Amino acid sequence: MRCLYCAHAMGLATCPLGTVVPILNRPENADILDLLNIPKDYEVAINMALGYPTESPEPPIRYSDKIKIVL
Ligand SMILES: Cc1cc2nc3c(=O)[nH]c(=O)nc-3n(C[C@H](O)[C@H](O)[C@H](O)COP(=O)(O)O)c2cc1C
Repeated sequence: MRCLYCAHAMGLATCPLGTVVPILNRPENADILDLLNIPKDYEVAINMALGYPTESPEPPIRYSDKIKIVL
């Protein structure tokens, strides 16, 4: 998650994508990892969409009785 915060600090927007992890780790998709220059003894743990944000929405308040956000 640290890289998400680093990207945010650089003005970039991110979204972790876990859905495709099991698909990318299937043996029949090893050629995709090859294309991405991922070494053979590695497996995908998480993917991250990265881009320039066009919006800056306020974060929703969740569990406000339990979590205090300090800015
Ligand atoms: C480990 C992890 C995996 C995620 N995988 C996906 C995903 O596959 N597809 C997706 O649209 N969002 C994915 N997300 C993003 C969440 O759906 C959600 O948008 C994000 O955690 C922010 O929550 P919020 O938008 O409700 O504030 C993932 C988030 C985390 C932390």
